[in-house]
Amino acid sequence: MAKLKKAFFCSNCGYEASKWQGKCPACNQWNTFTEEIISKQKSSSTSFVAKAESHPNKLVEVNSEEKPRIILKDAELNRLMGGGIMPGSVVLLGGEPGIGKSTLLLQLLLQFHQEVLYVSGEESSLQIKDRASRISSTIPNTFYISAETDIGQIVKYANELKPKLLVIDSIQTLQHELIDSVPGSISQIRACCGELIKLAKTTDIPIFVIGHITKDGQIAGPKLLEHMVDVVLQFEGDHQYFLRLLRGVKNRFGNTNEIALYEMQQGGLNPVANPGEVFISGKDENLSGTATGIILEGVRPLLIESQALVSSAVYGTPQRSATGFDVKRLNMLLAVLEKRCGFKLGAKDVFLNIAGGFKINDTGSDLAVVMAILSSAADISIPAKTAFAAEIGLTGEVRPVTRLNQRISEAAKLGYKQLFVSKYAKNIDGDLPQSIEVVPISQINEAVARLFA
Ligand code: TYD
Ligand code: MG
Repeated sequence: MAKLKKAFFCSNCGYEASKWQGKCPACNQWNTFTEEIISKQKSSSTSFVAKAESHPNKLVEVNSEEKPRIILKDAELNRLMGGGIMPGSVVLLGGEPGIGKSTLLLQLLLQFHQEVLYVSGEESSLQIKDRASRISSTIPNTFYISAETDIGQIVKYANELKPKLLVIDSIQTLQHELIDSVPGSISQIRACCGELIKLAKTTDIPIFVIGHITKDGQIAGPKLLEHMVDVVLQFEGDHQYFLRLLRGVKNRFGNTNEIALYEMQQGGLNPVANPGEVFISGKDENLSGTATGIILEGVRPLLIESQALVSSAVYGTPQRSATGFDVKRLNMLLAVLEKRCGFKLGAKDVFLNIAGGFKINDTGSDLAVVMAILSSAADISIPAKTAFAAEIGLTGEVRPVTRLNQRISEAAKLGYKQLFVSKYAKNIDGDLPQSIEVVPISQINEAVARLFA
């Protein structure tokens, strides 16, 4: 019997070492090494994909005629990928369990009326059929399904069937015959992903690979996985809400400034046609403690509603908590309000919630967050159809944001009447929509005086 070979792998970058080390010499992370059994036997060739004849070519002689992209029925996904899928590309789709990864890709294959193969190590064929019937009234007879988890078999099936699209659900369930560690371990993921990439490049079959996500939002397995594939998409959203946001994290064939929005419904995921206002709760009466901000997700302006609750702290230390917003940034904004603007919030509990259940990173939401807090503290509501788009600096000044014209147009399009922006923003009086009043301010107090007086 061949001797078992053990090795240590860095869970961050996939670096392999024969001995345990505290610090990874490749990526300098601490305590990332885990032990795994790697090979059952030594083999000269461990790849299932046949090697293509290759020799160096002159770059000028490389056939520059681009292979046509494969256009999907889902226009949102086409746009996100930079205008369809490149033949032979490998797309990694990450996201929390239950967010809708399997549904999205199943739907994609059901809409694609050519040979497709869905490999699922997660669910049985019956479960998938059941789900497919919920999504689509007819199942095309070019749709193939397999519950195989052995990568060698999958490569064999793909070579026989030559599908136009291949989905792997998920990379964490795949197993390489020559590697002894459990499915989902670093060496398994690395080897299986390597095989899939080779398969895609030699056959031109585009492959979608689902990847699980860890507690802190990273795609489980080595970071290496993200380096290996061509496109990384991230599926986000809150389970309690029906909205899902698909974000391009890496794209070798397009830019990553795009997002796609979907609604999870009974019959699967539907693209949202007019995403501008989907995060607004649409209440009728005006309540204190809410303010609308205009943020940019990639290149797309979105209106978001920030809700704040300010109340006297019952216990000694006031609580500050935020959902969908960085707590550190919230603390910074509260400190600015206290020190620079003279609002006494030091002994207050402050709770902040961004409606819609997704996390915002655009600092252009600062002014809206601050106004929601002040509105709650004073218990005065902000007039309807009022929005904010500015960042707050440490000195309390109201600072300009990028692509302001685009944000103004979006607010005007959605019927907003008044938009507070920074006085220092350049060319805000260019070609602006007539229906909206743009109010330039340099201090938070100016907005307070105008709205709460
Ligand atoms: P799923 O695709 O299984 O998530 P993942 O593969 O990311 O783990 O999504 C499962 C959730 O989607 C489940 O909670 C039910 C919901 N869902 C719908 O609301 N409508 C539908 O038509 C389908 C198929 C699923
Ligand atoms: Mg799934």
